[in-house]
Amino acid sequence: MHGIILKTLRDFVVDTYDEERWLEIQREADVDEKVYVPVTVYPDGDVYELVRAAGSLTGESPRTILSEYGRWVVPALLETYDLHIDEEWDALELLANIQRFHTSLRTRDLTELTTPRVKTEWLDENRVRITYDSDRQLCDIARGAIQGVADHFDATLLVEETTCMFEGDDACRFVVERPVAEGASADEASTERRTEVTQ
Ligand code: HEM
Repeated sequence: MHGIILKTLRDFVVDTYDEERWLEIQREADVDEKVYVPVTVYPDGDVYELVRAAGSLTGESPRTILSEYGRWVVPALLETYDLHIDEEWDALELLANIQRFHTSLRTRDLTELTTPRVKTEWLDENRVRITYDSDRQLCDIARGAIQGVADHFDATLLVEETTCMFEGDDACRFVVERPVAEGASADEASTERRTEVTQ
């Protein structure tokens, strides 16, 4: 696992709770005093154990913690990598570019890592499909990170999860739509099955 994930997981816990809580979580996960740095690869098990321990110490479900972490981490990742975000982009356009970020960061940092398998494609001018099919099954991070992008732009996005590996599907797929301004489209699809993600 890429060190940036573990380092920012620590930052997330310290920001949300405090340093003492992180140390407790590390003890409970049996990785006491391990210091995580972005340019190192760590066992995937550290993430699962830390999130399990965080769940048992906070009473939250591990999947909720991963989602909250995903939401929290977007600005931190943008800042850490000093990524050039085109000023013209809105939230959906940034999401349409995350495949590129994930591929280029792997190349730049740690070529031996398996990158998260995040793919993006435009379905039409207002909808992007994100497909995640990593064996790590961290789609909760993806769910949170989509929300984090909406927060970052103070935008509303409609998110439909069409498949999920936890439901036995081959991949997790999110169809993300930017709502069209009223009157702009005669083809306003029902949003009933969708989650409205807003700041
Ligand atoms: C916006 C800027 C973003 C940056 C700079 C970024 C960068 C990164 C980096 C560096 C990693 C670790 C890479 C590795 O393991 O090789 C990662 C992991 C991940 N990212 Fe992003 N990310 C961003 C947004 C998102 C968004 C919006 C999603 C939603 C689909 C997402 C989904 C994930 C997932 C699911 C993982 C861990 C998955 C795994 O290891 O299987 N990321 N990201």
